[in-house]
Amino acid sequence: MKIKILMVCLGNICRSPLAEGILKSKLDSNNYIIESCGTSSYHIGSKPDRRSINIAKKYGIDIAKQKAAQFKNDDFKTYDHIYTMDNSNYQDIIKLAKNNQEKDKVKCILNEIYPGSNLDVPDPYYGGDQGFEDVFKILNKACDTIALKLKA
Ligand code: 4NP
Repeated sequence: MKIKILMVCLGNICRSPLAEGILKSKLDSNNYIIESCGTSSYHIGSKPDRRSINIAKKYGIDIAKQKAAQFKNDDFKTYDHIYTMDNSNYQDIIKLAKNNQEKDKVKCILNEIYPGSNLDVPDPYYGGDQGFEDVFKILNKACDTIALKLKA
């Protein structure tokens, strides 16, 4: 059985598509399924934000074919690990969990590198290109740690 991981942000066009692409680049697709979604319905069916596509491309990762989806209750059953980009996403997902087993699957992604910090991956949507560079770097670091842990 493949291990299934879901990356979650608000719109599923800026941060979680990058998290999906970055973690995929570090893990063998024979053993892992990595996907992403948003808590909102705002961008369902859309490609990632052009700025996310560009920053991924700069580092050799193609996320252009991703399509935004919204989190659904079944995802608690489908996925083994659910990583949220920020505390607001975390609260929105936790509210939908029906039991502790579902709650335990959900983690703020930056707690993987800064345990207990509850830090947010800042939403770069309304900012400039530097925000996307910063998001890429922090997610790359978090995904390195996640990949190491999974392979251990
Ligand atoms: P994301 O960024 O959650 O990283 O995909 C956002 C994209 C769009 C919006 C908010 C955040 N929006 O309000 O449309």
